[in-house]
Amino acid sequence: MEGAGPVSDIRIDDLPVRDELRGKSPYGAPQLDVPVRLNTNENPYPLPEPLVERIAERVREAARHLNRYPDRDAVELRTRLAEYLTRTGGHEVTLTNVWAANGSNEVIQQLLQTFGGPGRTAIGFEPSYSMHGLIARGTGTGWISGPRRDDFTIDPEAAARAIAENRPDVVFITTPNNPTGNAVSAEAVVALYDAAQAAKPSIVVVDEAYVEFSHGASLLPLIEGRPHLVVSRTMSKAFGAAGLRLGYLAAHPAVVDAVQLVRLPYHLSAVTQATALAALEHTDTLLGYVRQLKAERDRLVDELRAIGFDVTESDANFVQFGRFADAHEAWRKILDRGVLVRDNGVPGWLRVTAGTPAENDAFLNAARELKKEQLA
Ligand SMILES: Cc1ncc(COP(=O)(O)O)c(C=O)c1O
Repeated sequence: MEGAGPVSDIRIDDLPVRDELRGKSPYGAPQLDVPVRLNTNENPYPLPEPLVERIAERVREAARHLNRYPDRDAVELRTRLAEYLTRTGGHEVTLTNVWAANGSNEVIQQLLQTFGGPGRTAIGFEPSYSMHGLIARGTGTGWISGPRRDDFTIDPEAAARAIAENRPDVVFITTPNNPTGNAVSAEAVVALYDAAQAAKPSIVVVDEAYVEFSHGASLLPLIEGRPHLVVSRTMSKAFGAAGLRLGYLAAHPAVVDAVQLVRLPYHLSAVTQATALAALEHTDTLLGYVRQLKAERDRLVDELRAIGFDVTESDANFVQFGRFADAHEAWRKILDRGVLVRDNGVPGWLRVTAGTPAENDAFLNAARELKKEQLA
């Protein structure tokens, strides 16, 4: 055929992909095979054996019905998630307030498919969770990078100004923020919500992926009387179930109805629903691990400061530390000592996830040696 080279030579950009995807790389932290991996904010504790048994039981039961489509509305799961939120979030919610999907990334995608899309925009205050911008791009939503102060806190006035100027359709507020670790106050979120409603009635997504690790309370109560405010959550972090892929949101029931306009039919498999239900039966044990991880996170903050690093306040299961003239070189030197941390591309800073005490000791030893080298 004239003009066509050998089929094996064809690359992404030879395909008729959408213009905004040309030359882009997929999201992905390096998955390197090193002894200590503290780079993806996972929970280091495997699920306890009684829970593994319970998952096997529930999945066995679900397997007997896999000839049928799963419960499309995930009613039992959403009811149990609502109970968990009511018990731990400081605000009563029910099934009608809760929606679940495959990871909070899918929750965010459904929100952007519903409230963003071509001709619309979303804003986030960066550095923040890079997938907000990437999912915006994937859904054809324009992305606006909003400001943060040099200490990585959000200046509510500057942020409100950015909202007033850009009139976005969707506003992302990540608290605790990834990769910096710091939380946003309820007052600041309310100020940004009010600014967003004044500019254009827009949806404000409060991404609470790490909230169980926070020193403070969940912002769930803010959904009361604010029908455009959505709190998104995940079982990937506190529940130690990143492999499960289960995220959820809490909002006014109208938001839950709206996202159903874009969700794929039967998006949440019967196996996923059964596994998540089993994990929710073991909430208390899993939250026990969260308490240990919070203590380890606080130890990382204290010891990194004692070594002489700058550390951003952390309400998450990870800690941002610096400063480095060349953060990537520092990342490499820590890796050479068998510890994988994350270079998120924030100039001068790296991020380490709180692991087991032994993993954190290995990291702190590497950090101590690195500091000595820096000072030598
Ligand atoms: C702030 C934030 N939101 C959402 C997610 C996505 O989590 P998942 O899709 O595993 O629920 C992450 C994952 O790292 C995150 O850091």
